[in-house]
Amino acid sequence: MYRSHSCGELRATDINTEVTLAGWVQRIKDLGSLNWVVIRDRYGITQLVFDEGRSAKELLENSKKLGREFVIQIKGTVIERESKNPNMPTGDIEVLVSGLTILNEAQTPPFTIEDETDGGEDIRMKYRYLDIRRNPVKNNLMFRHKVGMLVRNYLSTNDFIEVETPYLIKSTPEGARDFVVPSRMNEGQFYALPQSPQTFKQLLMVGGMDKYFQIVKCFRDEDLRADRQPEFTQIDCEMAFVEQEDILHIFEGLTRHLLSEIKGVDIADFPRMTYDEAMKTYGNDKPDIRFGMKFGELNEVAQHKDFKVFNDAELVVGIAVPNGSSYTRKEIDKLIDWVKRPQVGALGMVYVKCNEDGTYKSSVDKFYDQEDLAKWAEVTGANPGDLICVLSGSTNKVRAQLSALRMELAERLGLRNPEEFAPLWVVDFPLLEWDEDTERYHAMHHPFTSPKPEDIALLDTKPGDVRANAYDLVLNGNEIGGGSIRIHDKATQALMFDHLGFTPEEAKAQFGFLMDAFEYGAPPHGGIAFGFDRLVSILGGQETIRDFIAFPKNNSGRDVMIDAPAIIDKEQLKELHIKLDL
Ligand code: AMO
Repeated sequence: MYRSHSCGELRATDINTEVTLAGWVQRIKDLGSLNWVVIRDRYGITQLVFDEGRSAKELLENSKKLGREFVIQIKGTVIERESKNPNMPTGDIEVLVSGLTILNEAQTPPFTIEDETDGGEDIRMKYRYLDIRRNPVKNNLMFRHKVGMLVRNYLSTNDFIEVETPYLIKSTPEGARDFVVPSRMNEGQFYALPQSPQTFKQLLMVGGMDKYFQIVKCFRDEDLRADRQPEFTQIDCEMAFVEQEDILHIFEGLTRHLLSEIKGVDIADFPRMTYDEAMKTYGNDKPDIRFGMKFGELNEVAQHKDFKVFNDAELVVGIAVPNGSSYTRKEIDKLIDWVKRPQVGALGMVYVKCNEDGTYKSSVDKFYDQEDLAKWAEVTGANPGDLICVLSGSTNKVRAQLSALRMELAERLGLRNPEEFAPLWVVDFPLLEWDEDTERYHAMHHPFTSPKPEDIALLDTKPGDVRANAYDLVLNGNEIGGGSIRIHDKATQALMFDHLGFTPEEAKAQFGFLMDAFEYGAPPHGGIAFGFDRLVSILGGQETIRDFIAFPKNNSGRDVMIDAPAIIDKEQLKELHIKLDL
């Protein structure tokens, strides 16, 4: 038996018990005749004592051979600690060691395995197995497990069945690039790794599974950000015989369940907002509604003077920054520099200080009088003491820029409290989105999403105005889930492919299997997928999903620990019928 107890388990009630512990050496404090060693495992840490007076001489000497991260097994007696440590669950006791076995030696780790480590990101990723020994990473993985269990239990209790779908598939157009896998047995042909199990879960509905879920890996070859990984996990769900309302209801329930079980938060209000409203009010389809700073559109009250910049703009829009009128000139200049960074891309920013005495001081006083500025304050909801920031330009661009500024200011003002949770459904997404590069419409969600029946007639006349039965779940300014009611008849699906620029032959070649299935009794169905990594990290109070993934990729999509991707040898290439012309 390697151990009788874990390293986090022993308490004052265990005093005088003979125990066996196994774990890693966390710390050593050698006082000559007394050697204190802290032993660690997943469950916690326990202090061990090797003492000249109370232990065999040889044992004390052996204990001096230990180094950090050695794997050891000890036998000993639990004794009361003289100076107790109230910050440590096992802080009332220590173990007087009577036997020591070194199970494995260890090199000195390249960074300290403590909560606050001296290791930078790169070195910790290279030695991720050491990083996982640290509490912050270990706790995140345990937290992820807990969320996963709650999700599985909730869905199973609600009659969902977990079904696995294949990883070697044909590409599903989901907006990103596919990762492809060459087929040895089929020369010149490739599998694609799924961007999501979208078509399979629809086929499971045709197969009569009724309610499906899967906590599943998805693969997308896209540019990486804090909330994106090339392989990530979805809680993927689909239901038959449902309308949008049924789906929102079930997954509102899941979200409430998680927030209540994990955070002790009961969500009173689960608001909904249309896509149009979200874009108009927050410039963004995933607004953080924990704070205000709502957009005020100023065209009507700002385009009547000689200020050409505003007069030429499609949209003039502003936000009121709470208590911002005290910003110094220098601080405001810095803010202007911030919006002019290429990542944001504004050409400039107009500001108005709303003084406590009810007067206004703006950067465009040459053009606008106090009466004008009072109207701006009214539209943006600014109070005395606030600062109004105004941007102008083409609608889409200026909305994105002001939205970035709103989030940045909220971050600086401490308005994004990670312990406050504000979920939101964004509904009525457009079905199609115009793509400037290809000069074509693309499905905003995916090509299987059903248009709202009342909008179908617009497909031929104003395709951009057709709304979809699609919805996103937003939590604290992050898109944590998205889904839709699907098309379930061949004719509508064919119409959709036609509008997306597929010829009937192309549609058949790519999606014949789905179209065929629709001819064998497909029930009305719909579903949703949550980004599991995102959900876990936001519930954990953070926005970087990497911290909640055991072995994540870095920003260039590399696993620096195993050094992947990597070159493969010529023989392997030949077998796969791949000729590289390097
Ligand atoms: P969608 O593409 O919106 O929908 O994806 C669902 C959710 O997955 C998460 N997500 C990601 N998380 C981490 N890294 C990524 N690269 C990444 N990409 C997406 C997001 C997102 O909301 N098949 C549809 C779902 C459906 O219609 O039922 C789909 O995949 O949180």
